[in-house]
Amino acid sequence: MTQRQEQNKTKEKLNRRSFMHSTAAIGTGLFLATGACSKNEPAAAKAASAAASAPTTTGEDVNVAILGAGTQGQVLMNAVMKLGKESGIKFRAVCDIWEKQNLRRVSRTLDAYKIYGHKGTAYTDYREMLDKEADGLDAVIIATPDFWHSEHTVACLEAGLHVYCEKEMSNTLEGASKMVNAAKKTGKLLQIGHQRRSNPRYIHCYEKFIKEASLLGRITTINGQWNRSKSACDDNVAPPGTELDIATLNKYGFDSMEQFLNWRWYKGKGGGPIVDLGSHQIDIYSWFLDAVPISVMASGGVDYWTDHEWYDNVMAIYEFQTKSGLVRAFYQTLTTSGNGGYFEMFMGDEGALKMSEGVSKGTVYREPAVHEGDWDEWVQKGYVVKKEGLEQTTTSVDARTSPPPPSYSIPVPMDVPFHQPHLVNFFEAVRGNAELNCPAEIGYETAVMVLKVNEAVAAGRKLDFKPEDFHV
Ligand SMILES: NC(=O)c1ccc[n+]([C@@H]2O[C@H](COP(=O)([O-])OP(=O)(O)OC[C@H]3O[C@@H](n4cnc5c(N)ncnc54)[C@H](O)[C@@H]3O)[C@@H](O)[C@H]2O)c1
Repeated sequence: MTQRQEQNKTKEKLNRRSFMHSTAAIGTGLFLATGACSKNEPAAAKAASAAASAPTTTGEDVNVAILGAGTQGQVLMNAVMKLGKESGIKFRAVCDIWEKQNLRRVSRTLDAYKIYGHKGTAYTDYREMLDKEADGLDAVIIATPDFWHSEHTVACLEAGLHVYCEKEMSNTLEGASKMVNAAKKTGKLLQIGHQRRSNPRYIHCYEKFIKEASLLGRITTINGQWNRSKSACDDNVAPPGTELDIATLNKYGFDSMEQFLNWRWYKGKGGGPIVDLGSHQIDIYSWFLDAVPISVMASGGVDYWTDHEWYDNVMAIYEFQTKSGLVRAFYQTLTTSGNGGYFEMFMGDEGALKMSEGVSKGTVYREPAVHEGDWDEWVQKGYVVKKEGLEQTTTSVDARTSPPPPSYSIPVPMDVPFHQPHLVNFFEAVRGNAELNCPAEIGYETAVMVLKVNEAVAAGRKLDFKPEDFHV
């Protein structure tokens, strides 16, 4: 069955269920008005009502389970709950192996919101959850450590469910390709959690600046980074009394509690900071350039966090062959200094764009050689807003020094949780109303790009990509 046929099948199932629910509710006098806030409304739902400008989703109920209820599983759950009851997204179950901590916390939270249709039925074994719950579910949100994604995603797809799986798609290309194949075979949707792909600011920059207005001219260079301070990279520790026993840890692929809590740093579990953080931004390089790279060289090492396995600092340079010519793209990730934070900067011969998921960074620079009037059309259309008082006339120390460029802001707000638009895109696709913004095939391309950086560091030389590397 194709993905479109599967979407139609889900639509029919949702319509049927919604009809049965509304009939039952009318019959028992329980038909609740949507959008109204009662006095006893829990805080998350109040926040939901407040988020009036949120991209939203409404319609038939979509029943969802969470698989992996750690930091990110909870962030995703909260982002969904802030959509409010009217979104129709209902959590029905949660699975996590850390029973005394994350499983208990999320299960209790969901049970506390049962008046909004949530239910925190708790499982430690995902197979048991699928056996008992799959019939009543439409989708699963997966936020387990990277090395579990492939097994979990394939099992959920094969159980007939749509999947939103966090990045990194998998810690191996073998695992990632199994996911692509399972999505193809089952026709079920598989969204990978590169959430910038649904962020309205990124969409605006891509569609308006790059595609339509070509504000940057010919892009020649990209520079990006995610620098984290040492304190943000300290090891996680478990609250006393919540530790998993060694047999349970081993059963799920962990050598110790320390490794379980800090799996990102370990070979065979995650991919280190370049994969964990870099994948978000390197994914944007490829999206905005409409190309995949032809080579990568990189340097990195275990230089500071010497009790960890993956490189704690990496600098990589990709070469992309685009329709307009070659683009060199630098990327750096540090774990000892948060200097400069995180951003992506696209530089062309007519302008540059510096942006970040955090809205504090978002500026378009016009090359001084480009006449101000050339951008009037885009200012009038509201694509960019000129920052006043910044037209520069500074004295140069050298005749060849470029004057600081005039700058413009990006007039698109992002006032909802970062992950919410990507989840909304997923649920709208489940309802048959949208295409996925980051389907398995795109997640795979990004996995190919970032996993190769670790190989390039180990090889100590430039590595080439072949076009066929990016296809399963
Ligand atoms: N998109 C983003 O911005 C973003 C941000 C953070 C994390 N993530 C991704 O989310 C995923 C989870 O990251 P995290 O920071 O929440 O990690 P975490 O360690 O905080 O949470 C992982 C959870 O999975 C559970 N778990 C481990 N193995 C399991 C198994 N076999 N079955 C069921 N549960 C299992 C753990 O008990 C834990 O609660 C990772 O893939 C990570 O890359 C994405």
